Amino acid sequence: MKTPKFCFVIHPLSLEDVARYEPGAAGKGEPIIRKILEWMPSYAAVHVTGVRTPDGRETEGWFVAAPLLPEQMMDLPREEVYKRIVRAIEIGAELGANVAGLGAFTGVVGDGGVTIAERSPIPVTTGNSLTIAAGIQSLFRGASEMEVDPASSTAVVVGATGSIGSACVKLIAPRVKHVILVARNNTRLAKFHEQVRDELQCESSFTTDIPDAVRRSQLILTATSSTQDIIEPEDLQTGAVVCELSLPHDVSRRVALERPDVLVTEGGNMRVPGEPRFERVREPGTDFDLNLPPRTALACMSETMVLALERRLESYTLGRGIDLHKVIDIETMATRCGFTLADMRAFDAAITPEKIAATREAAAMRRLAV
Ligand SMILES: NC(=O)c1ccc[n+]([C@@H]2O[C@H](COP(=O)([O-])OP(=O)(O)OC[C@H]3O[C@@H](n4cnc5c(N)ncnc54)[C@H](OP(=O)(O)O)[C@@H]3O)[C@@H](O)[C@H]2O)c1
Repeated sequence: MKTPKFCFVIHPLSLEDVARYEPGAAGKGEPIIRKILEWMPSYAAVHVTGVRTPDGRETEGWFVAAPLLPEQMMDLPREEVYKRIVRAIEIGAELGANVAGLGAFTGVVGDGGVTIAERSPIPVTTGNSLTIAAGIQSLFRGASEMEVDPASSTAVVVGATGSIGSACVKLIAPRVKHVILVARNNTRLAKFHEQVRDELQCESSFTTDIPDAVRRSQLILTATSSTQDIIEPEDLQTGAVVCELSLPHDVSRRVALERPDVLVTEGGNMRVPGEPRFERVREPGTDFDLNLPPRTALACMSETMVLALERRLESYTLGRGIDLHKVIDIETMATRCGFTLADMRAFDAAITPEKIAATREAAAMRRLAV
């Protein structure tokens, strides 16, 4: 039997992304672009081929665009947005996909994929389980590179009541001294903290004050649905490590310019096995720019590919209460299929060993100067 195929729903995260998806949009005014997107139907944007495991299993799939910006996903009538996303999955299924993944805000809007899965012709996953696994690996890889000892550190999870953040709180806690839970809604935060505090194997607290929590932390993981920057350079401790899972990003670009002593990494990127090719459907022969290095995909895309490769045609990850066993299982499946954590990267650039050494050095100098 042939290996199942996948589709993955994508959407632009910014106006720059719109130009990347649709080169014809470059130079058009923002209000016009927003209006066009409101009316633009879902369409097959990318044909993915060459995803091949070390033992020779191969899959192909499609990225189907539901072309709305993050704010539009949140602000337009919910039913309108669901319709656009379900139509994208139907297009994928018509092309031959057997399992669908939800990218960025398509997995955030509403109830985190539950309603979309009910209306979809094929199983659906948000991809959040593998994103969590990759994020945790990435945070502690950053700590090791920056010589931060987790066991004596405070970590903050920004977006702690979310699908990704709530699982990250539980997985980070056994490895740190104190974990701070951050979100905007204090009632939900207090309730979640009450539910988990006894099972967390470290000290814990919660707050809605992001700058205060960040100022107290050496390790920071972001997984919010914010559409604005929320991590600013003036709040970060010397030598802090920031693992950014949010799409669009939460960390201000000013951090790259003003804080050479801080290590920021995009935590949800994975290297895809085989010779993956991301080809534009409308311009065959032309590669689609994912704004990632070659052979690299987001962890949520990777989860969808892994489910196809492993013939796990089920709605694997949905909603906000994620089963930690599933996180461990998808990590094992991904490893078996040859997916690995991608090299470190942030602010559209690779983080080379030289850059890490320079970051450590800048942190040491800054500590001496205090
Ligand atoms: N890198 C990847 O491969 C990958 C894969 C999947 C998803 N993602 C991204 O991960 C992020 C989280 O996804 P999710 O499914 O976990 O979302 P979610 O379940 O909706 O959770 C979002 C969390 O963020 C909090 N939040 C929202 N706005 C905030 C703000 N301005 N300040 C502080 N906290 C805020 C929410 O609580 P309050 O509303 O109370 O603030 C909630 O705790 C999204 O950006 C998504 O696009 C990345």
